[in-house]
Amino acid sequence: MQEIDWKNLSFGYMKTDYNVRLYYRDGKWGEIEICSEETIPMHMAATCLHYGQEAFEGLKAYRCPDGKVRVFRMDENAKRLQGTCRGILMPELPVEKFEEMVTKVVRLNERFIPPYESGATLYIRPLLVGTSAQVGVHPSKEYLFLIFVTPVGPYFKGGFSTNPYVIVREYDRSAPLGTGVYKVGGNYAASLKANDIAHQKGYACEFYLDAKEKKYMDECGAANFFGIKNNTYVTPKSTSILPSITNKSLMQLAEDYGMKVERRQIPEEELATFEEAGACGTAAVISPISYIDDLDTGQRYTFSKDGKPGPMSTKLYNHLRNIQYGIEEDKHGWTTVVIE
Ligand code: PLP
Ligand code: COI
Repeated sequence: MQEIDWKNLSFGYMKTDYNVRLYYRDGKWGEIEICSEETIPMHMAATCLHYGQEAFEGLKAYRCPDGKVRVFRMDENAKRLQGTCRGILMPELPVEKFEEMVTKVVRLNERFIPPYESGATLYIRPLLVGTSAQVGVHPSKEYLFLIFVTPVGPYFKGGFSTNPYVIVREYDRSAPLGTGVYKVGGNYAASLKANDIAHQKGYACEFYLDAKEKKYMDECGAANFFGIKNNTYVTPKSTSILPSITNKSLMQLAEDYGMKVERRQIPEEELATFEEAGACGTAAVISPISYIDDLDTGQRYTFSKDGKPGPMSTKLYNHLRNIQYGIEEDKHGWTTVVIE
């Protein structure tokens, strides 16, 4: 096996030993299969290819200092996938099957779980695709659910360090009554151009405003938004953003600290009042924001004057990481030990 440079991993794909697969045929899920093939045979008229009948998830496994391997809130990912299935008419996968397959694929690829000291993690990517041939716009009758894993480093540059973001007004990632609340590929296709523009201009990521009024903060292409002020954790309430499990966890931690937690519309101008702001998600963890530019209005909202993450973002980040790594008490029962 090639030596893996654990400390310098990017957020990218690396071949591992196995993936796990499950087929839905004749109205029922089959038996879990272990596979070492990286490709999937597919009918050219499959609904996932033409009509975007596709969903994915993202979660992580952590090699902890006590030697165990933990997975974070996999039941939540399973339930969110079920919500996505209801949203785009795919059969729901039972939570237990999802958990069984996550556990299996992590164990099968144990040698790819990065060491604790490296700061890298094993990213787990479940994928559900409609596979039967349809030319009319209808849901598929057959589906393939699979999970692969790949060791990853930080999603945004520098890991836990501040980055600049930009509001893009010319693009929407999802419609107010569209698929933004589901984790479907189409939302990410819709974000590619704006993301490319943001990168070209030197920003870590693009932020979307609500598509209807272009007034309120939605989220960025791959993470939710939160702001901190007056001992309050504020995060957008919107019908077009993904319900982030990281954000849900941070809201709980903030509440545990006795902070006020507000899930509500955030007008763009309110950004000027936040003491700290961040992007949060499985891949992003917490990615503190140095400033957000609105190129159309010329406004710059600055959250970090010295270029360092703020105290509350730092506290939340350390606490969340310590729970994920089994270092601090997991009083809400968020982690599952998958390898003892
Ligand atoms: N928003 C979008 C668009 C995402 O792709 C993700 C990543 O999954 C998130 C938010 C964060 O969600 P979670 O914390 O469940 O990973
Ligand atoms: C995640 O945070 O898990 C994501 O899915 C973000 C991105 C890689 C799509």
